[in-house]
Amino acid sequence: MNSLTKQPAWQALSRHQADIANQSMRDWFLQDPNRSSSFALQVGGIHLDYSRNIITSQSLTLLENLVNSVNLKDKTNALFAGLPINTTENRAVLHTALRDKSNCPLIVNGENIADQIKNTQDAMLAFTASIHNGHWVGVTGKRIKHIVNLGIGGSCTGPKMATEALKDFAISPLSFHFISSVDKAEINDVLAQIDPEATLFIVSSKTFTTLETLTNTETVLEWMRSKISHNVLANHFIAITAASEKAMAFGIPKANIFPFWDWVGGRYSIWSAIGLPLMLQLGSKQFNEFLNGAYTMDEHFKSAPTLENMPVLLALLSVWYVNIFQTKAQAIIPYSYRLRHFVSYLQQAEMESNGKCVTNAGNPIDYPTCPIIFGEEGCNGQHTYHQLLHQGQHLVPCDFILLDHATEANDKHHAIMQASGLSQSSALMRGKSENESFKELLIAGLSEADAARLAPHKMIPGNRPSNILRLKELNPYNLGSLIALYEHKVFVSGVIWDINSFDQWGVELGKQLLPDILKNIQTTSSQPETEIG
Ligand code: F6P
Repeated sequence: MNSLTKQPAWQALSRHQADIANQSMRDWFLQDPNRSSSFALQVGGIHLDYSRNIITSQSLTLLENLVNSVNLKDKTNALFAGLPINTTENRAVLHTALRDKSNCPLIVNGENIADQIKNTQDAMLAFTASIHNGHWVGVTGKRIKHIVNLGIGGSCTGPKMATEALKDFAISPLSFHFISSVDKAEINDVLAQIDPEATLFIVSSKTFTTLETLTNTETVLEWMRSKISHNVLANHFIAITAASEKAMAFGIPKANIFPFWDWVGGRYSIWSAIGLPLMLQLGSKQFNEFLNGAYTMDEHFKSAPTLENMPVLLALLSVWYVNIFQTKAQAIIPYSYRLRHFVSYLQQAEMESNGKCVTNAGNPIDYPTCPIIFGEEGCNGQHTYHQLLHQGQHLVPCDFILLDHATEANDKHHAIMQASGLSQSSALMRGKSENESFKELLIAGLSEADAARLAPHKMIPGNRPSNILRLKELNPYNLGSLIALYEHKVFVSGVIWDINSFDQWGVELGKQLLPDILKNIQTTSSQPETEIG
């Protein structure tokens, strides 16, 4: 057994879980009418109600001991100070620097990165203004109307999720499109909606080596050349990359390249120039609010005591379930159509970060490290997979994300959305005993025999945990805070699990195997072989 799970703090949690395993949250609520206000936190525009978890105040004390045993404070300081905590790539992890409002210098590899950040943000602002005011036009003189982001993974999920989430705050009439996978159907669908003379393509790739992105860029470049007889690169293609020389070798003019740096992980890059689509949509003031929201969460995370620290609490609850209850998955359920891409955003943030099998020192791990993140916007999930949440045999902790205010005031749809999310959380917690079901069936007029036959099927075990995260409204500031909240949750979980949350070597093997398989497919007319070569 790995030494981590042998430590006293882990062992104490296991013993405690055995003690409370047969208690019910329903009873705890009856015994303590203040439970939902005691187990709650507010940070900026986000309220977390974590009272519907299988925890007591003793559980929290034991979880706090776990945090103390892993030296979280020092590790958090190392993150913010820019120490190379991504040890397998010898890199700092400084997405927090991109939203830092302290005006303090931050030296990485002998350079003040605050200056680099400021210069790039200034360039983004100037570029955004030139698109908005029409100084930047297509090569035939048309104003830019369509923005197409060519990128995948972190070079797509952040801007795609955020531009959709904040659509109601758009200050420009630009339309935004995202081409990520390499399926031609996706390209065809986007090209059918745009006017080539009024389109700007943003090639987003940290490495500028990603097959899908480069293939798609070549294809749209060919398409642009077939539609416009002038040189289209200078007016219609910009690049966002940490490998400017590669972008230039591809033909993108140097002046059209916005840099970011190896200390920004792809899945943490929405705060960098990768967020340019969002700035183009929102304008500089609201983009700045987005950064401010994240900064508020950073400051909270750095300074709040363990049990008043929202990201730390979310991480502790995740560890509590994954390691002590042996749960496999976690559902993220935003009751907001605008947040529908948030689930896939978090899938990358959590699973690419913490889906690991060795410790920081390279030793094999004998405990699970990351829940399988899945979900779907409410109310759709209720009519698809929620059955399993209520009666299935997997215990699946859920995060319900609700909005207090909709864009339109007093909207009846919004009231139903809120009530739906809350009732799902209540149903998971309360459940319905077989006896309650039996009585309900009798009241509904069934015979005793029929009621007895049906009652077990209608019994809902309950005692299933969920968090309720309420955003006052879905605005740039609160979205910034929400993303930063989960980023820090991922970091804290990784510290507890003693893993490097910032590399992603697991994705490399498939990339290495692809060229030979591709060559094989391209040189044979038959269907690809599926046996292992
Ligand atoms: O293959 C995984 C990955 O490296 C992600 O970590 C990253 O967000 C994505 O690919 C895209 O990479 P790039 O921005 O270098 O094209």
